[in-house]
Amino acid sequence: MPELVRAIYPGSFDPVTNGHIDIIERGRSIFDHVIVAVAVNQDKDPMFTTEERMEMLRDVTRQWDNVEIDRFDGLLVDYVSSRDASVILRGIRAVTDFDYEFQMALMNRRLAGSIETVFLVPAEAYEYLSSSLVKEVASLGGTVRGLLPPSVEKRLNAKLEALRCSDGES
Ligand code: COA
Repeated sequence: MPELVRAIYPGSFDPVTNGHIDIIERGRSIFDHVIVAVAVNQDKDPMFTTEERMEMLRDVTRQWDNVEIDRFDGLLVDYVSSRDASVILRGIRAVTDFDYEFQMALMNRRLAGSIETVFLVPAEAYEYLSSSLVKEVASLGGTVRGLLPPSVEKRLNAKLEALRCSDGES
């Protein structure tokens, strides 16, 4: 029997956008099992907690039985090995992503030669999308319709409202 191929799609997902979902959907049609792994300890100062980011991901992927949501801490390659996966899945949106992604892929290969990084290209509509841009636009009152799943948009608006209230109190 051929071996099942498990891929890890790591990232901060703060929050998950339609661009990420596009990559997850493409990935799940290529690999037997895709584990979307939320990075816990990053230099980034996330708006959503790890648990909130995982909840939103679970919400928008629950219809796919070969997609799992998890979290990881420490070196990505150690996590990939601990989950018996052999592929790191990453999205490349534009040439500007390339240098950083290339550097990470080569470093990860140096750390664990048997793990391959596979790059997928999202739909054109999401080429310039990023979680920070979406947060910035929403916080300034702009529309982010079509860039986030409705459930995530709702949570983002609620989070922004809560942050505004706590700012008003201090
Ligand atoms: N659609 C929309 N946006 C996308 C996207 C897509 N398809 N693909 C990436 N992005 C955006 C993200 O939203 C994020 O935006 P933000 O910066 O505004 O939040 C940005 O592109 C890049 O984020 P992401 O893909 O989540 O990567 P990251 O840089 O946050 O995470 C890790 C990188 C976690 C994978 C990497 O730091 C890591 O592996 N860390 C573990 C420690 C380790 O092993 N280090 C050595 C690595 S060689």
